[in-house]
Amino acid sequence: VAALLGLAEVILREAGVETARLDAEVLLGHVLGWPRHRLLAEREHDPGWELRGRFLDLVERRRRREPLQYLTGRQEFWSLDFPVGPGVLIPRPETELLVEEALRLVAGRPDPLVLEIGPGSGAVAVSLAVARADLRVVAVDLSETACGYTRRASLLHGVAERVDLLRGDLFAPLAPGLAADLVVANPPYVAAGTLDGLQPEVARHEPRLALDGGADGLEVIRRLLTEAGRHLRPGGHLLLEAGFDQGEAIRALAARSGGWRGHRVLTDLAGHPRLHVLTFPSG
Ligand SMILES: C[S@@+](CC[C@H](N)C(=O)[O-])C[C@H]1O[C@@H](n2cnc3c(N)ncnc32)[C@H](O)[C@@H]1O
Repeated sequence: VAALLGLAEVILREAGVETARLDAEVLLGHVLGWPRHRLLAEREHDPGWELRGRFLDLVERRRRREPLQYLTGRQEFWSLDFPVGPGVLIPRPETELLVEEALRLVAGRPDPLVLEIGPGSGAVAVSLAVARADLRVVAVDLSETACGYTRRASLLHGVAERVDLLRGDLFAPLAPGLAADLVVANPPYVAAGTLDGLQPEVARHEPRLALDGGADGLEVIRRLLTEAGRHLRPGGHLLLEAGFDQGEAIRALAARSGGWRGHRVLTDLAGHPRLHVLTFPSG
């Protein structure tokens, strides 16, 4: 154990991984099925040829800057475990704000219907369904891989019968009359030209479809602002996560897209504008 951790730490540090030691411990703990503290207590243990090989394969993938979560296959979000892997965005902690605000917005409504565009791993859709037993989600993702992950997460957490999943482009697969209390989305919002400058874990390994918001980063957001109203009940809300520097642009777009009443912006823990709450007129 001590020798493997030492070796992996050197390999990962040389590859520019800042948390080299921690990552080595997480990966070895994952392969052995041990909590990390046991690695310290049993430094002399020999995992054997096969497990050593499996560990070194994961270290090699991490050396190529694959995200740690893809290698362990999981990410915690809203205190729940979500399966993740290549082809799906790893849910970020700041998106928990979106879940929190969504629950607040439907607090007074019985049997609320939430429409999520782009569920990815299912982090938001499944957390909402777990949080409230009378809540239903209809979720649409363009990525077949993402749909598979959302399906798996909804089964894992026992809410599959309240999370309806459709594959397609934004609102296209929905019945024309479908009207929700809330539309939520954490859409792709990174400007295409800046994608390659992101950290290697994101730029090289996370799905472009989940990140690429077109030339100015606002292409999907623009469409959401124009189309979401058609699938909201009067007095319903659109809850949109966006980049910390997109606040003003979204304010201007929403004012022009028409049909929205009120625009509230919530900041993340770092004080940056993150969440946009738009209300659909009630008459
Ligand atoms: C930033 S990820 C968000 C995933 C998840 N909701 C989260 O917050 O962790 C955006 C998601 O939108 C999906 N997506 C991108 N363009 C789409 C489109 N035109 N229609 C439907 N889904 C789309 C992507 O496949 C991806 O799963």
